[in-house]
This record gives sequence, C-alpha cells and structure tokens, in this order.
Amino acid sequence: MAKTRTQFVCQNCGTVHNRWAGKCDGCGEWNTIIEDDQMGGIGGGPGKVPKKGRAVALTTLSGETEEAPRIFTGISELDRATGGGFVRGSAVLIGGDPGIGKSTLLMQAAAALSRRGHRIIYVSGEEAVAQVRLRAQRLDAANTEVLLAAETNVEDILATISEGKRPDLVIIDSIQTLWSDTADSAPGTVTQVRTGVQAMIRYAKQTGAAMVLVGHVTKEGQIAGPRVVEHMVDAVLYFEGDRGHHYRILRTVKNRFGPTDEIGVFEMSDKGLREVSNPSELFLGERNAKSPGAAVFAGMEGTRPVLVEVQALVAQTSLGTPRRAVVGWDSSRLSMILAVLEAHCGVKLGQHDVYLNVAGGYRISEPAADLAVASALVSSLAGVALPADCVYFGEISLSGAVRPVSQTGQRLKEAEKLGFARAMLPVSSAEVPKGGNSRWTEIEDLPDLVSRIAG
Ligand code: TYD
Ligand code: MG
Repeated sequence: MAKTRTQFVCQNCGTVHNRWAGKCDGCGEWNTIIEDDQMGGIGGGPGKVPKKGRAVALTTLSGETEEAPRIFTGISELDRATGGGFVRGSAVLIGGDPGIGKSTLLMQAAAALSRRGHRIIYVSGEEAVAQVRLRAQRLDAANTEVLLAAETNVEDILATISEGKRPDLVIIDSIQTLWSDTADSAPGTVTQVRTGVQAMIRYAKQTGAAMVLVGHVTKEGQIAGPRVVEHMVDAVLYFEGDRGHHYRILRTVKNRFGPTDEIGVFEMSDKGLREVSNPSELFLGERNAKSPGAAVFAGMEGTRPVLVEVQALVAQTSLGTPRRAVVGWDSSRLSMILAVLEAHCGVKLGQHDVYLNVAGGYRISEPAADLAVASALVSSLAGVALPADCVYFGEISLSGAVRPVSQTGQRLKEAEKLGFARAMLPVSSAEVPKGGNSRWTEIEDLPDLVSRIAG
C-alpha cells in the first residue's frame, strides 16, 4: 500500500501548501485551499519493473515527421481558433464561465464532425442523455450519428469509449465531474481533476483520438478550475463573452500545434451559436457617431483586424475623489493616459469623473488602443464629436510620444473596407499603404492629437 499523505491544495491554481491558509500565496485567491489526501511517492507501487525506452537522434527523424493530422469541423471560426482543426492524439481544454455556451459549441462541433463521417463520442457528466438530446434537437443536431454517454467515473468512461470502433474525437463535459477509483479525495478537487484529465490524455495518445475537455472557470475554490490542468494539455481555448451581450469569443491561449492569439467569434441565438465572419461589423453595429466621446479603434486579434468603438464620458465630479470606471480595458492603463494628458497637454481631469466603455462588451488587451482612448477622452471633455469616418491606433509612452504598433497595413485595410477614409496613427509606420482617396494623419505626440481634436 502506498502511504497516504495529507496536503493542502489551492483549487484555483494547484499550489500545494503544507498547512491550511486563508489566502493562497500562489494566486492570491481567498478560501480556495482545501485538505486533499494524496497517494505518496512517485514511480508506481512495489514490484513495478522499469521499462527501458529508446532515445533516437533528432537527425534520423526527418523522414518520419509530418504535419499533425487534423480533423476539420467545417465551422471555420472554431477551426481558426484551434489552428486548423483538432489534432489527432492531442488534448484540447475549452474553459469558460458556466452558462457561456461551451456545451452548445461542442454539440454543434460534434454534429458537424459527425456529418463529415467522423465517429464522435460526447460524454456528459453534468446532464442526463435525455437532456443532452433535447439540446441537440434545438441545435438541429439530433439527426446525426453522435454517440452520447452520461458517465463521471474515469474507469467507466474509458471502458465506454473503448467499446466498438475507435472514436475520432471524444468530448468530456466537464473535467470537474470526473472522479477516479485510484484517487481517494472528493470529486472536483485538484487531485481528482488532474487524475481524470491525465487518464483522458493517455487515452488520446494511445489511440490517436482527439480529446476535447470542457472546464468551468470557478470563482470560489470549492471545485478545481481549468487552470490546474492547463500545463497538461496541448491546447487551451477560453470561451468568453458578456452575459448581457450575444456575441462570444473563442480565444486561444496555448497551442502546441498552431498560433496563439487567434480568436473565433460567434453569436448566441435561439438556435445555438452562429459564426460571425466579420466581427468589426458586429461591434460597430449600433454606432452613434455624432456624439462626443466616441472613437473607433482599429485593433488586431492575432492575424485578424477588429474595429471597435471606445466610448468615454468625462463629467464634472460632485464627489471629493473623482470616479474612474472602466469596462473592457485595463484601468491602470487609463490612469496612465490621464496622467500623461495632465502632465504633457495641460488637460486637467482631477475634478472630473471619467467613465470608459468598450462597445459591445468586447475586451481590448492591446496597448495600441491608447490613442483611441485618449481621443475619446479629449473629445468628451471638449464636447467635440470626432469625425465619423476616422479610426485611431497607436501606443502612448509616458513622455507623451505616440509609438508605432505592428500590422499597420492590415488595420488600415480593414478600416477602408468598412468605409473609414481617415486614420490617425503613429509617425514612421513603415508599412503605411497609400490609401486611394483616404487620408492617413501621422500623430507625433499627445499634444499634437489634443490640438487636432480640441483645436
Ligand atoms: P451551455 O452551452 O449550456 O453553457 P455551458 O456549457 O458553458 O455551461 O449554454 C447555456 C446558455 O446558452 C443558456 O443560458 C441558454 C443559452 N442557449 C441559447 O441561447 N441558445 C441555444 O440554442 C442554446 C442551446 C443555449
Ligand atoms: Mg455545459
């Protein structure tokens, strides 16, 4: 018998502690540490005979390697996010908040794959087969050959999916419901989730099936989150979105077989998820270009241009400490822009509340949005609407200089495509194309921008 050791594991990040604590040093979360019994030691039990492996020279491998074999779903937004389809023998983790649409997306993917002649097994640990079927009916997927199973025990799942012809792809929904006979802690703990995921990955590697694992992002530490298995899988995708909005973004954060920073964009409808092939049109949809404080940012998501409106409201404060509220952007970045405006342009905002919102519930992570944010702020403060046909991009440094950003050409091309004839952008962007009738204005520094907007 292996010795049982008691340890305390953070259910958010997996950090192991010797004793219980209220706050995890690893991730800073509160109340996420719980007691967890684990089998001690590594390398298996007594009597295990070590097996000799074989090391091969890298140079002799040239003939044996080839492109990773992929399974296309035909849902191009999903194929784009996975880097060209699911890879056989690999494991993909799809994380996201509960209720965001992970099961919906995967049921649609399963149906699409099944129609292409692949054998797909959908293992649901959260819903009964009848419930999953009901959803499939709503998604127009009920008439496909997708195999459904409702299991949570790891050994039972392996027995179920090993029966009959080998599947091309297995979906496990979700990893938090997995529990194994070999681990004796409670279901949903880090140990159980890791053991279960490990078994699924091993199955994928041995059989060449693609494994798709669903993981709920958990706010409180009662059950382990997807972060504790991120390092074990080949690719990690997060399904994001705002409950108040219909669109959803599938974002790649790790991919051993393709690019990261790619996104797939979907819209949730009453018949499931619909692909959005031109996200800019979606985010600019309900635009009111005549009011002050709105600037269109020409952004990039991986290789893909995304135009989105940044809205600012600057108003005289009635409080002792003015309010700063940001939705969809980094609040410390906003503080920086405000400080630069104050220090280098004489724009005083100490007596003003500042609200910043990115339209459509979208989240911007690029520093290139600085110039659009600054334009929106100045426009709102001055009460002057920005030209409706102008886009903005460029990073602002602490000195007030506007610094060049990457992929200028693509940003401008997308802007032109959507009818924007003007742009304000950094100086010396080498790849600036000559726009036919379009006018690109190079902005040297922030004072230059302020004088152009506020006159
Ligand atoms: P679901 O896929 O169950 O989320 P997850 O697996 O990430 O927890 O999606 C649940 C939400 O999606 C639910 O609030 C209802 C909504 N939905 C639609 O709007 N249209 C649909 O066709 C389906 C199936 C779900
Ligand atoms: Mg679900």
